[in-house]
Amino acid sequence: MTAAASLLVVNIGQLVTGDPLLSAPGVVEHAALAASGGRIVYAGPSSGLRILADPEMVEIDAHGAAVVPGFVDAHTHLVWLGERSEEYALRAAGASYEEVAARGGGIRSTVAATAEGSLEDLVTAAGARARRMLRLGTTTVEVKSGYGQSHAAELRQLRAARALGADPGLPDVVPTYLPLHGAVEGDRAEYLEGVLTEGLAAAAPLAGFVDCFCETGAWSVEECERLLVAARSHGLRAKVHAEQRSRSGGAALAARLGAVSADHLEHAADGDLRALAGAGVTGVLLPGASLVLGGPPPPGRRLLEAGATVALATDCNPGTCWSESMPLMVSLGVALAGLTPAQALVAATSGGAAALGLTDRGRLVPGQRCDALILETASWLDIGYHLGANPVAKVIAGGRLIPTV
Ligand code: NIG
Ligand code: FE
Repeated sequence: MTAAASLLVVNIGQLVTGDPLLSAPGVVEHAALAASGGRIVYAGPSSGLRILADPEMVEIDAHGAAVVPGFVDAHTHLVWLGERSEEYALRAAGASYEEVAARGGGIRSTVAATAEGSLEDLVTAAGARARRMLRLGTTTVEVKSGYGQSHAAELRQLRAARALGADPGLPDVVPTYLPLHGAVEGDRAEYLEGVLTEGLAAAAPLAGFVDCFCETGAWSVEECERLLVAARSHGLRAKVHAEQRSRSGGAALAARLGAVSADHLEHAADGDLRALAGAGVTGVLLPGASLVLGGPPPPGRRLLEAGATVALATDCNPGTCWSESMPLMVSLGVALAGLTPAQALVAATSGGAAALGLTDRGRLVPGQRCDALILETASWLDIGYHLGANPVAKVIAGGRLIPTV
């Protein structure tokens, strides 16, 4: 085909397209990738490429390296201040997540630390994390509030998320309003009423999704349902932290309400997973948090057997998983969640896009946003195989080479 291009990547050894018409993950060998106006105009064998170079066209020689879609990290709590390294040590010494929270640690301690900061402080702290994410290949990241828990503080977190998204040198950001996270100080019924009557209206212009931590000791199915139903009339689509620490009913709620995703799911029963698949709810696996907290593994293979779409995400947060690394989540998706390397890569790219309701990214096929990673090595398998490393040499986002140093 003949295409006008502003970006051309040649000499790609393995182009991982994610094309569902090819067997996963859709590898094309000896390939080229071309983009124009931020969109892919060609992704296929070098032999089929006919290019009309635009005068400013940037050409990159991949020298035989593999190229894969940019990672879509669909679940993070990126905006926080303070740190909880002591909890990490306490848990290593045998304390549970719940015991640490009961001693004044947990989400509550991050809420207190985050409340001290200005918007600028939040943007600086979260920006450093977002930069690390980009270097590790994340081109789209979901960012939740949830460490505010007063209306003003929740909105400040969402504003910080949007400020990150406005920086062309950082990943694209999808903000999520998470008002029901840790237990609140004061009267919880009053807090929930305030969220329903004021919080949702104020958050709606700043966020695309609403989320809740549906868990024994956090927020009940009934409370979460009130939030998610009320959020509909504000145009906020639903996500649920479900079955993370116990089987609390969040997955069934997500299925019943047609949420976009149900996240964690370690304690979900097979019937819950079938209900999610039947309702078209994407299951988001957070194997970093599973690894840190212990307990049952994330149900990757079981979700796929149930027919659900699966996403992998970092859960980047100061309590249960401080990691910016999607490559590590691919490794853990294979090692802990029972996914094949191909299934894990698809979950970290087009699966993440599905968990954010985004149809314009996650695959390297014509028409999609050109978000692509040129790897350090020739094999895409190295993403999961080389544990704890950064396999990414160059990041392309929206058809532009992004400086990552
Ligand atoms: O996804 N589950 C709830 N929220 C986070 C933990 C947040 C925290 O401990 O600060 C999670 O694991
Ligand atoms: Fe989370």
